[in-house]
Amino acid sequence: MDLRVRPTRALKGEITPPGDKSISHRAAIFAALADGISEVTGFLEADDCRSTLRCLEGLGVEIERRGEGSLRIRGQGPEGLREPEDVLDAGNSGTTMRLLMGVLAGQPFYSVLTGDRSLRRRPMARVADPLRQMGAQIWGREGGNLAPLSIKGGSLRPIDYSLPVASAQVKSALLLAGLTAEGETVVREPVPARDHSERLLEFCGVKIKKEDWKISLWGRQRLRPFQIHIPGDFSAAAFFLVAACVHPRAEIVVCNVGLNSTRTGLLTVLTDMGAEIRVYPEGTSAGEPYGVVSAKTSNLRGTKIGGPLIPRLIDEIPVLAVAAAVAEGQTVIQDAAELKVKESDRIATLAMELRKMGARIETLPDGMILEGGTLHGAVVDSHGDHRLAMALVVAGLIAEGETVVRGAECMAVSYPGFMSDLEALLK
Ligand code: S3P
Repeated sequence: MDLRVRPTRALKGEITPPGDKSISHRAAIFAALADGISEVTGFLEADDCRSTLRCLEGLGVEIERRGEGSLRIRGQGPEGLREPEDVLDAGNSGTTMRLLMGVLAGQPFYSVLTGDRSLRRRPMARVADPLRQMGAQIWGREGGNLAPLSIKGGSLRPIDYSLPVASAQVKSALLLAGLTAEGETVVREPVPARDHSERLLEFCGVKIKKEDWKISLWGRQRLRPFQIHIPGDFSAAAFFLVAACVHPRAEIVVCNVGLNSTRTGLLTVLTDMGAEIRVYPEGTSAGEPYGVVSAKTSNLRGTKIGGPLIPRLIDEIPVLAVAAAVAEGQTVIQDAAELKVKESDRIATLAMELRKMGARIETLPDGMILEGGTLHGAVVDSHGDHRLAMALVVAGLIAEGETVVRGAECMAVSYPGFMSDLEALLK
């Protein structure tokens, strides 16, 4: 689908982003493993999270849909899962595939996981290798690195594992596998990544030890069923926060948005860049902080980002690059080689598409350097990457002339209502 975007006179109003994608996946998976019925509201109704539900149903889990974002999931403990009759399809969702690998590694049956063209190109050895060390059998293309993956799980040994890259998906997969192992599993992080799994497991009554950059849990613990209301997705809100900062006549209030500090690195960076952003914490839901964030027209200056900040804003780099492309001066993004193995190679695709709009970008092996300036409309392509598509729409709102975003339908992967939420703010 081609989407036409024109600069808008003003951007004003309030939005409530859809439920957090990372927490939605985890809520569904943990509920499926719990001993009883869990109730989830605020679940993200988007392609990625539907992929997780479909895979869980393929494993015999009963899920009742009770209306927009509302689910009842009947968990029967980890032993309640059944050998699937067919291939489990994770679609575009890395979180679905990697977390389920952790679950399936502890199951005595055979299963096959696949995904779309993008997901079948993404590295899975980072999960498969430690799971094999725990005793699972996993096969895949390219020596077991690429999906489709076949998994024959069973009784697992615990592991003490240092993650070579900061990845919440790998960490979560190992914690899920560790739950079925006999003994203590330890996961050491090079830099802390999002901690939704740890928080939700604790909410389910699992005892977890969290020390500096080290998480451990004892296996054979049971998960209590739970009721959860999932806060709004900070990564979805990020498109509006940046749009407000870069637009010449804008003021946006984002309500009910998750404020977990392992996710909000963008707030630190935008503030450093001179953004007019205010945060109003309101409370916590199932161990996750949430609140209101407002942003308005700002004079942004370039900045330098890298190190431990990167995992806290990795998914926001596409839209942050749009901010950097119109900020005053230079922005340097480093230590972000993980961008190359996201839904697209985001270093290459961001540079290619934003250059079409006049941005000055030099790519680095682990990031990019952007020189601020102005943008003009162009025909750009999403490369099937939802976050790139939405970042290009934000760029189109402040570019001179018309921008056409090709392949914009992929926004449904994480945010099917993005365009209608945006249209409500156009003045
Ligand atoms: C996610 C973790 C991150 C992130 C992804 C969602 C999660 O990926 O980029 O969009 O829900 O655990 P990595 O684990 O590969 O860093």
